[in-house]
Amino acid sequence: MLISYFEENKIFHLKAKDTSYIIQIVESKYLQHIYWGKKIRNFKLDYLKPFKGDQLNGFMFAKDNINGFSLDILPQEYPSFGNTDLRSPVYQTQFEDGSTISDLQYLSHEIFSGKKKLKGLPSTYVEKNEEAQTLEITLKDELSGLLVVLSYTVYKDYDVITRSSKIINSSSKDLKVLRALSASVDFSDDNFDLLQLSGAWSRERSIIKRALVSGNQSIESRRGASSPQQNPFIALMRKDADEDKGEVYGINLVYSGNFLANVEVCQYGTTRVQIGINPFDFSWLLKPGEDFQTPEVVMVYSDSGLGKMSQTFHNLYRKRLCRGNYRDKERPILINNWEATYFDFTEESIKNIAREAKKLGIELFVLDDGWFGNRNDDTTSLGDWYVNKEKLPNGLKKLSKDINEIGLKFGLWFEPEMVSQNSNLYRAHPDWCIHVKGRERSLGRNQLVLDFSRTVVCDAIIEMLSENLSTYNISYVKWDMNRFMSEVGSATLDANRQRETAHRYMLGLYRVMEELTTKFPEVLFESCASGGGRFDPGMLYYMPQTWTSDDTDAIERLKIQYGTSLVYPSITMGAHVSAVPNHQVHRITPLETRGNVAMGGNFGYELDVIKMTDEEKQTVKKQISDYKEIRHIVQFGDFYRLISPFENNDAAWMFISENKEDVVVSYFKKLAECNIKLKVLKFKGLDPEMNYRVIGTDEVYGGDELMYAGMVIPELKGDFTSYVWRLKKTL
Ligand code: DGJ
Repeated sequence: MLISYFEENKIFHLKAKDTSYIIQIVESKYLQHIYWGKKIRNFKLDYLKPFKGDQLNGFMFAKDNINGFSLDILPQEYPSFGNTDLRSPVYQTQFEDGSTISDLQYLSHEIFSGKKKLKGLPSTYVEKNEEAQTLEITLKDELSGLLVVLSYTVYKDYDVITRSSKIINSSSKDLKVLRALSASVDFSDDNFDLLQLSGAWSRERSIIKRALVSGNQSIESRRGASSPQQNPFIALMRKDADEDKGEVYGINLVYSGNFLANVEVCQYGTTRVQIGINPFDFSWLLKPGEDFQTPEVVMVYSDSGLGKMSQTFHNLYRKRLCRGNYRDKERPILINNWEATYFDFTEESIKNIAREAKKLGIELFVLDDGWFGNRNDDTTSLGDWYVNKEKLPNGLKKLSKDINEIGLKFGLWFEPEMVSQNSNLYRAHPDWCIHVKGRERSLGRNQLVLDFSRTVVCDAIIEMLSENLSTYNISYVKWDMNRFMSEVGSATLDANRQRETAHRYMLGLYRVMEELTTKFPEVLFESCASGGGRFDPGMLYYMPQTWTSDDTDAIERLKIQYGTSLVYPSITMGAHVSAVPNHQVHRITPLETRGNVAMGGNFGYELDVIKMTDEEKQTVKKQISDYKEIRHIVQFGDFYRLISPFENNDAAWMFISENKEDVVVSYFKKLAECNIKLKVLKFKGLDPEMNYRVIGTDEVYGGDELMYAGMVIPELKGDFTSYVWRLKKTL
């Protein structure tokens, strides 16, 4: 049994692989959060006592002091607004009389096998009902008729709890949802650090850790996308927790739009953690009988530090978040022409790159921005998804055919959510963009955001893309998105629904992606938002890989890929070798190191291979054949972080195949040092009983030896160096 209900003490006990999550109905009506942590066989402790308000004081509500019970200190599953819990509520609704308070109380519950789909939203899933159990608890506000269904899923094979909630208007009057976070968890103490993945364009997902303090601390996005500034992920870490040990609670929202993750440390040192759609500039009108589904939250408890947390996220996301034909397939090594040519290419220059790429062993050619409309720079043509005949006089049919004849698959760039003012689409439909009538339409990268909250706009984009995907032999799509939302409003929504625009946009986008990925299952979709500006589980549900960052410098990438790996698996991280001096930071790094860093993800090239020397081409050839040999380990194996580039002059990570027989360990050193001390690298995750041969040598070591004693790192000369060990099980 993954989920049990005990009538005698009204306890729900959710047991994942190594995690327990426990809820109790108290006073016959309130849902108390009892426990989230390491698995417990049977829960019998009386948890009300530690929270009893024995510090009776004048600020406590009289009703609540009866039997020492106080909502203001009760750890709760789904705290309301308006009762005597004065901490942050997880939801808030407004009724026709203008009042904004409600009091949800337990009504009923149901436990069933499997997991329901979330209407219109991405989520983790099951393939068979036996894989998971779901608990649905229904709460009701008696006076208004408001219902909320809380859903909890426990998987048999993944150590996670997933949560979401659905708000239902079962009354005969309209109501407005003002706040609808997906989940709230109360911890009984505040002895945590808060970890977040923050940054900016080209500096995505830096690891930041801070101690919790009294009051609210939050991260959020108000940009209309999950954003490179803050990823929709936080972790609470015990003070002694690190990569390999200690308790960590990781929380990730399966959503690609505005979000809020808030941690409130309250007066008695309790901690309330909440995550969901950002309530800022949000509301949702619910007509009688309608409901509002919140996005899913994936919650991972690890008793062995960040490493175990990441592996749990990776495993679940690879197998039960990503979907489609490519979920379990090795991904093609691609070459993308963006940094090679930018907008300046011809049919011949593209084919020349493709011919050379084929010789080197590359499998897929991706034609990036600039192939459509009159697009010769970024001021024009988004929305006009038909070929630029000046650049490609023989059209895309011929080009894609030629590329296929060269022996490569053909991929194409789109930015479907955007429109340029200088485009036929905009001239025909100036109201199809996000805007507020009469106000300036601010441009970002010279473009506007199409109003995907409108069905007509989404349908038109589906049609335009379908036309392209069914006419040309396109095996891969790079789905880009290069600006945030401003002046948010929609031309056709009623006044009292304008604050629904940003979420309706996400629902529209999800529908467009659902339809296109279903219609074209053989196409590999890669999402991108000026690099990794929308690297979130919501996008991964539709597109199983994401361009990790526009910063392709190998040394910068160490941090970006390392930070990203906290939550997202390597197979989802697009990682390309680019030219030197690097176009973003102008650094010159050795080709070997650029290759070794990119091989930590979903490998490819983004440079003009024609301009390479013969020696460089030989190196590239070798990199490609090496990656083909290790691809299954990197893309489907377990990932371990060994040395953090955030804290050191070096970095290291490793991959092990699921059967523990094949291993790749990568070590990187930023700046050279003279007269260095001996440094040993302790591997992780090997089978201590197995012996491993270092490929290309006769050296054989025990798994125990490599993990407990460690491998000596060879002395590396020069800046920006790297070293890779490949090991294989031997007798
Ligand atoms: C931003 C992307 O991140 C780049 O890789 C490239 O596709 C450009 N857009 C093209 O405009």
